[in-house]
Amino acid sequence: MQALVLAAGKGTRMRSDFPKVLHGILGRPLAGYVLEILEELGITSPKVVIGSGAAQVRSFIEAGGKGRRNPVFILQREQKGTGHAVEMARKYFPGTQEEILIWPGDMPFLKRQTVREFIKRHKESGAEASALSSLQTDPAGYGRILRAGGRFYAIREELDASAAEKKIQEVNSGIYLFKTKPLFDALKKIRPANRKKEFYLTDTIEILSKEGRRLEAFALASEEEARGINSRQDLAAGIQIMKKREVEYHEERGVTFVAPDQTFVEPDVKIGRDTVIYPWCYIEAGVKIGKRCKIGPFAKIRRGTKIGDEAVIGSFVEVSRSRIGSKVLVKHLAYLGDAVVGEGTNIGAGAVTANFDGKNKHVTQIGKKVLIGSNTVLIAPVAVADRARTGAGSVVPRGTKIKKGQVVAGVPARPLAKNKKG
Ligand code: UD1
Ligand code: CA
Repeated sequence: MQALVLAAGKGTRMRSDFPKVLHGILGRPLAGYVLEILEELGITSPKVVIGSGAAQVRSFIEAGGKGRRNPVFILQREQKGTGHAVEMARKYFPGTQEEILIWPGDMPFLKRQTVREFIKRHKESGAEASALSSLQTDPAGYGRILRAGGRFYAIREELDASAAEKKIQEVNSGIYLFKTKPLFDALKKIRPANRKKEFYLTDTIEILSKEGRRLEAFALASEEEARGINSRQDLAAGIQIMKKREVEYHEERGVTFVAPDQTFVEPDVKIGRDTVIYPWCYIEAGVKIGKRCKIGPFAKIRRGTKIGDEAVIGSFVEVSRSRIGSKVLVKHLAYLGDAVVGEGTNIGAGAVTANFDGKNKHVTQIGKKVLIGSNTVLIAPVAVADRARTGAGSVVPRGTKIKKGQVVAGVPARPLAKNKKG
């Protein structure tokens, strides 16, 4: 199956200088969600219509795929509507019998099972075109599914709908399956004779219906799944939807969230069983957290971080691109960036790895069972061997290598005479 993603629109209602499909939900742009769903469906080479901010959209998609995806970009220079966007792709679909899945770039919430079911129903029905529809308690803003005697025959946009049509609660999600030939034949006949003066893809339905073709609308998408992102309000609502999904995903795998509504977990995070996440944490994509850890309240765990089992990352702690061993305690007010911390180490309150020298980032190596005193600043690159200790307020200059069991203190930090306890 071939897929065509429509991602050229200006996104006028966002009032933004950035193309709409690059606006993010939990760190991932809308276009990223769409490509991810398509990939889950086995479509790795979708055709993507780009136009507004084309270069930016293109470079995001190319960078994000890491070679897994091979999108084909199609330029729509002027955005004259969804029908016009599909028209731009005509020459990329020379086959007549292919099925084409059309997907708006601003529809990130569809679940894989729903789309699979949609594809299955469409195939079983033998329809020449099917729309994935949804029953909405508040259908305002969407195109309405018009039926006569139950038979789907047209889609009416909100702006062009009569008062009676506006009451219809079955709406168009914007996701369709078309047989290629009827689609491109019908596209030749659409006209911008509507309030927006755009070429509407949705108008192909009535054209195909008048030709007596078999059409279906399957109301399989939940209210949530059928939401599109058109405005900043939609974006905020979308963040809530995705956040809830992510938290539920981890709850089902044995993670406790003390305050699910006040916790943000980006997609693609791994958290071990019996870990407890306290309120107001933000956990970025790609982070891995072990079992039986305690995270937060108010912790920010950033990309590239891996935390071992039974670690405690406490209040007002930020960890970025770091490997934290098991049973490490970082209980209050600390920053660890580009750090490697060995098992059982204790990082005191206010400790900071100064990992950035204004130009480059450097690594801080901390061994096992180390005690980093409160308010220690480790100016990276620094290496602290196992069981070493730094006194409260120490400033450890760059390039320092603290030896195994050594105790350092002061500004700049210097070894203390070894006391009997070692
Ligand atoms: C569209 C549907 C509507 C449906 C709704 C679901 C049409 C005419 N209407 O309305 O029935 O209920 O989606 O969310 O199709 N785009 C282009 N080029 C263009 C115009 C749009 O690529 O010239 C892209 C946009 O980037 C966007 C998608 O097509 O990703 C949909 O366009 P949008 O303007 O958001 O359509 P809606 O008004 O939401
Ligand atoms: Ca839309």
